[in-house]
Amino acid sequence: MTLYRGTFIDTPESPFAGAGLRVDSDAGLLVEDGLIVARGPYLQIREAHPAEQVVDLRDGVVLPGFVDTHVHFPQIRAVGGLGLPLLEWLDRYALPEEARMADVSYATGVAQEFVRGLAAAGTTSALVFGAHYADAVDALFNAASEVGLRVTSGLVLSDRLLRPELLTTPVRAYAESLALANRWHNVGRNRYAVTPRFSLSCTDDLLATCRDLMDAIPGALFTSHVNENEAEIATVADLFGGSDYVTTYDRHGLVDRRTVLAHNVHPTDVELKTLATSGATVAHCPTSNAALGSGLFPLTRHLQYGVRVALGSDVGAGTGFSLLKEGLQAYFCQQLLGDQGRPLTAAHLLYLATTAGAEALDLPRVGHLSVGQYFDAQLLRPAEGSPLSVAITHAEDTDEALARIFTLGTPADIQAVWLNGDLLH
Ligand code: GUN
Ligand code: ZN
Repeated sequence: MTLYRGTFIDTPESPFAGAGLRVDSDAGLLVEDGLIVARGPYLQIREAHPAEQVVDLRDGVVLPGFVDTHVHFPQIRAVGGLGLPLLEWLDRYALPEEARMADVSYATGVAQEFVRGLAAAGTTSALVFGAHYADAVDALFNAASEVGLRVTSGLVLSDRLLRPELLTTPVRAYAESLALANRWHNVGRNRYAVTPRFSLSCTDDLLATCRDLMDAIPGALFTSHVNENEAEIATVADLFGGSDYVTTYDRHGLVDRRTVLAHNVHPTDVELKTLATSGATVAHCPTSNAALGSGLFPLTRHLQYGVRVALGSDVGAGTGFSLLKEGLQAYFCQQLLGDQGRPLTAAHLLYLATTAGAEALDLPRVGHLSVGQYFDAQLLRPAEGSPLSVAITHAEDTDEALARIFTLGTPADIQAVWLNGDLLH
């Protein structure tokens, strides 16, 4: 067993329901086989466990590992393609790079960069949009397994309106997805997600196949995109006889508690109601929404209807792996909405980046640092004299310090990352 000594900050309960940050200064967390088995004032835990090895983390603050609920592994080399809206951006930047995943050695290199990039940003669990090629998805799961990251991912499916080399058929989609799930679902920390790209690029036949896959892979998640961009939404309505976007998935039984839909910047009230009653989660991807000019996320309306919301980096339309940056951008977005916006505190941002994501991904032992949870954690320790270090020193309380971490923090400030109690970084 290992006893970690330090300041631990987390959000086991939702600040949207009135809870505050949980802050334990000079606390002890005892970890055995990756699980937190005791927690309390350091001296008290030490007294009860005098022989255990102590890891002293008092020169920083410890947060739970982040949970990224929407990130595209084949797009990391396409980050920073600025200046275009969604559909043009896909054609110009994202899809040419995704076509390169046909080369498995190229995909393997990208997968390794991807998992290292996530871990270095403090992300320990992620729902990952895979590639359109099964061998590339194998490469991702292999890379995640080597690092020990908790990855849920799957073969990306499309059968229309993308460049031809990215298209499949319902029959092939079924066979390849199931074969991947048989290799990876619930193997180690990996799980499978049925992943149609978006209903714009999927026929009803392919979406029906996705439902068949959900039945064939017990415990799989379902993930896709929804209501991101006005032109995209108009095209989807044309393709599906005027249907709203959520219904294109819901009519195939694809919207329930195991569903994570990215963006939802422009939902109707009917769609919000469907998302709320089904228990689906919306992955809010604020830097992507800003970079592509998709719009300002209506968080207030999601909360009013009771739709579950978590954070996604949406790399490569998003601007990087850091959920600190996504949290800050989520805050900016609500500020820009003025009266319509939901003012967010640092506690809200941490919750969205951790516990909310873990709930969305159905990872009950992830997201906070209570007894019984995995020790998935990160140590924030900015370089001495750096603007963040100075700002933290002058913060009046922990809420203020955490707000400064979200404002100024980058992956360079993350000194260590643990997954299941194993030191990664
Ligand atoms: N909609 C369909 N594919 C994508 C993608 O790769 N990124 C984003 N942001 N939206 C999408
Ligand atoms: Zn996306």
